Amino acid sequence: MTIGILGAMHGEIAELISAMIAQSGSRIERIGMRDYHVGELNGQPCVVALARIGKVAAAATTVSLIREFNVTEIIFTGLAGGIAAEAKVGDVVLADQLIQHDLDASPIFPRYEVPLLGMSTFATDAALSAELKIAAENFLRDDLPHAITQKNQDIFQLQQVALHVGTIASGDQFISDIAHASRIVTALPEVLAVEMEGAAVAQICYEYGVPCAILRTISDRADATAHVDFGQFLDGVASHYSAGIVRRFLSER
Ligand code: ADE
Repeated sequence: MTIGILGAMHGEIAELISAMIAQSGSRIERIGMRDYHVGELNGQPCVVALARIGKVAAAATTVSLIREFNVTEIIFTGLAGGIAAEAKVGDVVLADQLIQHDLDASPIFPRYEVPLLGMSTFATDAALSAELKIAAENFLRDDLPHAITQKNQDIFQLQQVALHVGTIASGDQFISDIAHASRIVTALPEVLAVEMEGAAVAQICYEYGVPCAILRTISDRADATAHVDFGQFLDGVASHYSAGIVRRFLSER
């Protein structure tokens, strides 16, 4: 069993990579301009990679994890913009299914359907996601108050954070406009959060029969200040969430 762990930006996986280097002296393999950190994290064989941003980057990295490193499960961890009212900054969202909100080959194929695959939504693995859910709940309850500085807890009001399970929508667009966010919610009312990679990872994992889980922390509300909120959250908070939840998951296995 080797677990592939992906993030889109360095800040989302930085702490995981340093923990891996400290624990197992991981080695790096470079494929397609990406570094794959191969080693052990909390006693489990893992490959951690920076996928970079967007669906193409995420799909390419996912294929490499599966074909070059024979990973048996994939976890994508990072940030998302909350578009459902209940998805607040600092909350964690675990996807049970994902959809590409920017995919439109109509009228040849139905809106959102991946042409020639005949599917619009891709489910994550229920068992893997259930394990991550427990780890995320434990992290939010026990570790969050110690992992994040008091200043950042106050800025982002992390005292009352929640965990949500539901639909995540991915697209090659950073959503920083409330009208755009509302168009997505109106068309896809079940969507909790938007990001730029998860649906591509879930589609590749479906095609290769590899279980996956998509874990996101809400960094912004996809509105006019989203880019500022995202940047601040990425700086001092994101990596602690990703590393905290993923390491709890690995050590509780
Ligand atoms: N990731 C984090 N926030 C996002 C947003 N507002 N749009 C797309 N991806 C995001």
